[in-house]
Amino acid sequence: MMQLDRSDLDAARQHLTPDSALPLIRFMADQSLGAQAEVAPAEIRQQAADLGWVDARTGVRTTLGILISDSCREYLFWKERHGALPFENSLPHLARSTFRGKYVAEIGAGMGANLMSLSGTAGRLCGVEPVAAYAQLGQILRAREGIEGVEIWPGGAEDLPFEDGELDLVLCVTAHQYFDLHAALPEIARVTRPGGELIILGATLGQYAAGAGARVLRSGGRRSKYYLMTLINTLGYQAFGRRLLPRREAFSTSRPIYPSTGFMTRHLEAAGFETIAPPQPAAGEQCFYLRRREIGTGN
Ligand SMILES: C[S@@+](CC[C@H](N)C(=O)[O-])C[C@H]1O[C@@H](n2cnc3c(N)ncnc32)[C@H](O)[C@@H]1O
Repeated sequence: MMQLDRSDLDAARQHLTPDSALPLIRFMADQSLGAQAEVAPAEIRQQAADLGWVDARTGVRTTLGILISDSCREYLFWKERHGALPFENSLPHLARSTFRGKYVAEIGAGMGANLMSLSGTAGRLCGVEPVAAYAQLGQILRAREGIEGVEIWPGGAEDLPFEDGELDLVLCVTAHQYFDLHAALPEIARVTRPGGELIILGATLGQYAAGAGARVLRSGGRRSKYYLMTLINTLGYQAFGRRLLPRREAFSTSRPIYPSTGFMTRHLEAAGFETIAPPQPAAGEQCFYLRRREIGTGN
C-alpha cells in the first residue's frame, strides 16, 4: 500500500490539518524516530490506533502509519529548521540565490519539505516521487502551512517526466542512495539544460561506513546485519552495477547504497556534468554541485 485510498486520505486530511493536530503529528514523527509509544498521552495513542496508524494491541506502526510518520517527521524537521533547506546555513551553494527564478525539480522529493523551503524563491518548482502516499501527505501538510505553487509528480529518477533540457536546476537530497544511478544520472543530464545545475546532497561510502561502524559499536552489534548488507550492496553496485542483495520489502528506501565520492564524481562527469565546487561535507552528508556541460564540450 503505497497510495492512500480515499478514506485514509480524507482521515489524514481531517486529523493532520487543524492547528490542534500538532500533538498527533509529533507522536507520529516520534514513532519514526524509535520513540516508545507508551510514553505518549493515552488519548493520542488511542487516536493513532483508531485511525489505523498504529496497531491497537502492540502499538507498532502499520504500513499506513509508517508512511504518515515519515511525512510528519520531515514536516517537523522542516519546522525546526524554520523553513530552511538542510545545511542551508553551512553550504554556500544551498543559499536561496542559487535557486532564485529558476525552474527547479527535486528528484526523490518525499513529502516535499525541501520544496516547501524553496517555494517563493524558485521561478517554477516541482518534485518527482515514486511513492504516491508521500506526495498526497505533502499536499495536506503544505495546505496546513498555506504553501501553494508546489507540485509533486509521480515518477522515478530513472525515467523522469520532463522534456530534454527543460530544467534549470535539479536537486536530490538524501535520495540518490535509492536510485539506480547508472540509469538515473544520464536521465538527470537529459532533462537539465546545458549550463543548468545539479545539486546532490547525501552520504557517501566513507561517511556511511564511519557512521555505521560507530552505531554498531554503540549498540553492541544491533542492526549490524543491515549495515553489512548495505555495504555489500554498495560495493556490489560499484563493481557490477547492481544491488546484490535485493530485499523483499516494498518500501522505496529499503535498499540504499552509498557510492564513494570517486564513483559519484566519475559517473557524474561521464553523464555530462562538470564540477562547479569540489564535493563538500556537511554533518555526515556530502554535497555535489555540478553544471551540465554545454553542447559540443564533450557529451
Ligand atoms: C530519505 S527520502 C528524502 C526525501 C526528501 N528528498 C527530503 O529530503 O526530505 C528519499 C526519497 O527518495 C525516494 N526514492 C526512492 N527511490 C527513488 C527513485 N528510484 N527515484 C526517485 N526517488 C526515489 C523515496 O521514495 C523517498 O521519498
